[in-house]
Amino acid sequence: MNVSDMGTDLDRVLITEDQLNERLDQIAAEINVDYAGRNPLLLGVLKGAVYVVSDLSRRLNFSAQMEWMAVSSYGSGTKSSGVVRILKDLDCDVTGRDILIVEDIIDSGLTLSWLVSNLTNRGAKSVEIATLLRKPEAAKVEINPRYIGFDIPNEFVVGYGLDYAERYRNLPFVATLAEHVYGG
Ligand code: IMP
Ligand code: MG
Repeated sequence: MNVSDMGTDLDRVLITEDQLNERLDQIAAEINVDYAGRNPLLLGVLKGAVYVVSDLSRRLNFSAQMEWMAVSSYGSGTKSSGVVRILKDLDCDVTGRDILIVEDIIDSGLTLSWLVSNLTNRGAKSVEIATLLRKPEAAKVEINPRYIGFDIPNEFVVGYGLDYAERYRNLPFVATLAEHVYGG
């Protein structure tokens, strides 16, 4: 799939497929060192992190347990509601485990801040975050991800797992959405 397949829906490509791959190589290399011998649990946040988990985990040099949670702080709009709900919970006990949360994007940070305390309260030994994207200007709470793919401007983006109203997730790159699609 490429930009022209989307007609006028996209504004511009922010991060190309090559840039994504190069950065994932670098982050995986860091994770391989940091987590050597620790058997971390990779916790993907559905649905946006599906591609990040998939592409990152295949670059690791250890076999990693993969788990998924679905939480919601958004409706189908583009603004954070601040309310986090668990839509799908973990299937396993995380007591004593080193957890690496894998996220698509940190916007306000509200979702992850809630998730980190939730996992800590369940007895995880450590909770770290790997996020593909971060919008530093949108931060409402302080989050310190151990791994950050790219800092991006405070604009609504789609692709590589990120959606607008459940669309555009399967774009192989990250792009900004044209204003006429989401109404500014
Ligand atoms: P936060 O709680 O505001 O940090 O938002 C986290 C979640 O909102 C992410 O996991 C995304 O699902 C969604 N989100 C935030 N910004 C964007 C965006 O620019 N495009 C698509 N989804 C986004
Ligand atoms: Mg999400």
